[in-house]
Amino acid sequence: MTILGFPAELKPQEKRCAVLPVNVKAYKLLGATVHVQAGIGNHIHVSDEEYAAAGAEIVTSRAEILANADIVPSLHKLTRDDLSHLKPNTLIVSYLDPFNEKGFVASLCENNITSISMEMIPRISRCQKMDALSSQASLAGYVMVLQAANELDGVLPMMMTPAGTLKPAKVFVIGAGVAGLQAIATAKRLGASVTAFDTRTIVAEQVQSLGAKFLHIDLGKTGETGQGYAQALTPEQMQIQQREQAKCIAESDIVITTAQLFGRKPPMLIDLKTVESMQAGSVIVDMAAENGGNVEGSVPGEIIKHKGVTIIGTGYWANGVAKHATQMYSNNMFNLISEFWHQEDNAFKLDIEDEVQSGCIITHQGQVVNAMLKSVYESNTSSTNDKKEP
Ligand code: NAI
Repeated sequence: MTILGFPAELKPQEKRCAVLPVNVKAYKLLGATVHVQAGIGNHIHVSDEEYAAAGAEIVTSRAEILANADIVPSLHKLTRDDLSHLKPNTLIVSYLDPFNEKGFVASLCENNITSISMEMIPRISRCQKMDALSSQASLAGYVMVLQAANELDGVLPMMMTPAGTLKPAKVFVIGAGVAGLQAIATAKRLGASVTAFDTRTIVAEQVQSLGAKFLHIDLGKTGETGQGYAQALTPEQMQIQQREQAKCIAESDIVITTAQLFGRKPPMLIDLKTVESMQAGSVIVDMAAENGGNVEGSVPGEIIKHKGVTIIGTGYWANGVAKHATQMYSNNMFNLISEFWHQEDNAFKLDIEDEVQSGCIITHQGQVVNAMLKSVYESNTSSTNDKKEP
C-alpha cells in the first residue's frame, strides 16, 4: 500500500495546493491511499468534505501526514522541520528551486529523502502533461495583463464612440516564452496593439501568429541551451538590446517583462532612466521581481509608483486565478506520478536511468544524483538568486 500525503501549503500568500478531489479519485483508481491535510483547499473553496467524498482521509496533524506518507507531493518545498518527520526514503515532489537551495538539498541528503523538482522536469513532448513551469507561467501571463489593465487609467481596445475615438493601448512584452506568449495573446484579445521582443528570434513567428509585432534587434549570435532555454547575453549585447528597445518602451502604455534564464538570475532589462522615459500613468509588470527583477526599481510583492509610472512586482501571479492554477498543477502532479506508477507493486517506480526521472530527481539515497545540478554545484557557476518563487 502506497500512501500519498498532501500537506497544506504554509506560505501565507499561497492559495494553490497540489491536489483536487478529482485527482484523489484518480489516485485511488491507481491503487494509492490518499491522505490530505485538513483545510488544504480552503483558499479555493474546496471543502474537506469534498476531498473525503472523493476517497481521501482527512488528517488534522501535519506531522502525522508527513510521518505516514511514502510520497509527499506539494507545491512549495517542505520546511526543514517537515523533513524531520518524514520516513527515510520518502519521495517528495514539489518546486525545489535546487540551483539556489543548495543547503536545503543538503538537508534532503542528510535525511535520506528522495526528491523530484517540478522545475527540472525536461521540456520535451513526453513531459508536456507534467510541465508545471509551463502551466503556471501561462496563467501568469494572463494574470499580468489583467493586473496591468487594472492599474492603467485607460482602456486597452480601440473605442469609436460619439464622444470621440480612443486609440488602442500599446503593450510591449519582453520575453516571449510561455508566459510572454500568453500575455501577448491576452493583451491582443483585449484589443491592445502589441509588440514583443525575445532574444530567441525563433519565436518571432509565434509572436506574429498571435497578431503582434516582433521587434527585430540585431544582437549577433544568441545561443540556446540544449533544452531550448535562452543563453545569457554578453554585456555588449545587453547594451544593444536596452538601446534598441528604449523607444518602444517610451511609447508603450504597458510593458510586461517575462525574461528568464534557466537556473540563473533574470537579466536586468529596464533601468530607471528608461522607466522615466515612459508617460506618467503607464504601467510596467516585472514578472521576475521576486527573483532579482528585469526592471530597476521593482519591489518584490508590491505595486509601487516611480515618477508617475506604476511598477507591479507582486509575484505569485498564478494565485490570481488560484482555482485554475491548482487544477493545472494538480493535473501536472498526477500525470507525473501516474506515468511511473507500477501496477503490480502498487507503487511509484523509481528509475534514475529513465530520461525524465534522471532530469528531475535531485536526491536519492543520501546523494545529489542530478547530473546537471551536480556539475553546477561542483563548478559553483550557478549565479545565486536572492529568492525564487514559482
Ligand atoms: P523562460 O521562462 O526560461 O524564459 C522566458 C523567455 O525569456 C524565453 O523565451 C527567453 O528566450 C526570454 N529571454 C531571456 N533573456 C531575454 C532577454 N534578454 N530579452 C528578452 N527575452 C529574453 O522560458 P520558458 O517560457 O519556460 O520556455 C523555455 C523554452 O522551453 C522555450 O524554448 C520554450 O519553447 C520551451 N518549451 C518547450 C516545451 C516542450 O514541451 N517542448 C514546453 C514549454 C517550453
